[in-house]
Amino acid sequence: MDKINFNGKLMHVKEQGSRQLSQETVKKLIHQSQEAKKQAYCPYSNFRVGAALLTFDNFVFTGCNVENACYNLGVCAERNAISKAVSEGYRTFKAIAIASDLNDQFISPCGGCRQFMREFGLNWDVYLSKPDGSCLKMTVEELLPVSFGPEDMSMKKVFDITNEY
Ligand code: THU
Repeated sequence: MDKINFNGKLMHVKEQGSRQLSQETVKKLIHQSQEAKKQAYCPYSNFRVGAALLTFDNFVFTGCNVENACYNLGVCAERNAISKAVSEGYRTFKAIAIASDLNDQFISPCGGCRQFMREFGLNWDVYLSKPDGSCLKMTVEELLPVSFGPEDMSMKKVFDITNEY
């Protein structure tokens, strides 16, 4: 990838600063989510999900769902991909592609994953895909309107309990 020095900052020329992905990049991201799906550990639901997350600086982190005999400990593919990125120091995202085996439907992220995405902004893209590679693009805000997010934590409150507990 080409890099330029812009006002003292090193920037990638291609796509950096823009959420707009080329068709080729979208196709690749969906393919990466389909590959991630192959790693799904889902002996209880038999429902494989894969995700591929594109960071602002064009790195890709993938994830699959990982279930557990203690059912409620299972983790979704999207959350796995996001946690992998965050734990490596990446918090700004352009897009996430999601893949499942549903033949006739675009895989729709669960409510918990929508909230997890929302933590890192409203204005980035989610590609809901089908196994044939077709997709539906929605923003995080479209998937989770009127949401609660990190900004709300510092809004004016009636009481400030900081010193009381
Ligand atoms: N699943 C995901 O990984 N992502 C979603 O957005 C929907 C659901 C997983 C969780 C569980 O392992 C299986 O799919 C069935 O719910």
